[in-house]
Amino acid sequence: MPGEVPWGIAPKIEIERLSKRFASGAGAVEALRGIDLVIRENEFVALVGASGCGKSTLLRIVAGLDAPSEGGVRLNGLPVSVPGKERAMVFQEYTLFPWLTVKENVRFSRGLKAHFNIHDSLAQTGWMVERMRALLDVMGLSHAADAYPNQLSGGMRQRVAIARALLSRPEVLLMDEPFGALDAQTREVMHDLTLHLFQLERPTILFVTHDVEEAIYLAQRVVVLAPRPGRIDSEFRVNLPRERHPDLKLSPEFIALKRDVLQRIRASSGMTTDRAALRRVAAGGEGARAKVNASTPPNRKLP
Ligand SMILES: Nc1ncnc2c1ncn2[C@@H]1O[C@H](COP(=O)(O)OP(=O)(O)OP(=O)(O)O)[C@@H](O)[C@H]1O
Ligand SMILES: [Mg+2]
Repeated sequence: MPGEVPWGIAPKIEIERLSKRFASGAGAVEALRGIDLVIRENEFVALVGASGCGKSTLLRIVAGLDAPSEGGVRLNGLPVSVPGKERAMVFQEYTLFPWLTVKENVRFSRGLKAHFNIHDSLAQTGWMVERMRALLDVMGLSHAADAYPNQLSGGMRQRVAIARALLSRPEVLLMDEPFGALDAQTREVMHDLTLHLFQLERPTILFVTHDVEEAIYLAQRVVVLAPRPGRIDSEFRVNLPRERHPDLKLSPEFIALKRDVLQRIRASSGMTTDRAALRRVAAGGEGARAKVNASTPPNRKLP
């Protein structure tokens, strides 16, 4: 459970001097520069940072979906260059196949070559069917098992994508803002579910979120990325009680950690509330409205 970092345990994911540049029309974008990060087996690490600081890029490279420009990633001591069945990713955008039902979408990854093993496929069929049923149930999707994605709400679609990632019980879960589109209540249920699964199945989790509270509540370690170029700014160990409960978010320790992480995100991203700029926006609006009013005859409705 969060709160205890198993430092005695071997590294699971090793990210070394990793950089990524994208060539774009407007010139090259240095999405990541010199990232060094080790994630240990059964560790739950959250990545936070301002929009555009390279969180998704880093996750995609660990997933083997993108190649780094320099440096690299090792998984279980071996270099990563392509996706593999020991890793599953939940993407930031919904990624369901519109022509497949909920059930078929969840089952889909089992059909991928990278996930298919003829020796275990038969033995695991029963286990897989049972697990799928349980996952749909826990995700509140059983009643929609035969529906198509366009018949689901955004939150339901994302829950299907999460069930799909969990189906094959991956060693490593890469989650890119998986709960960003969910309402507050569903989000809390998903937090419980994630922590429960983490406790039961002990995957290694790399979890991207914009929500600092979510990061602290779920993870054992929070890593702050800074933008332009994307790089590691700071790391925070979450030393909170093992048992998570929503009331924990009200504890002084939780609030202090949240404040420290937020402060680092603000400072490293250079994002501040520019009150002078806001006043100019407001003044511009007022000025424009005053001009319209001046040129509008009395009692005439504006379109
Ligand atoms: N395929 C691409 N081609 C060109 N530039 C890209 C590409 N993918 C990402 N970038 C750029 O790399 C930088 C990092 O993008 P990335 O999507 O990883 O950020 P992020 O931290 O996930 O942002 P957000 O929090 O908004 O999801 C951005 O400047 C983005 O414009
Ligand atoms: Mg992203």
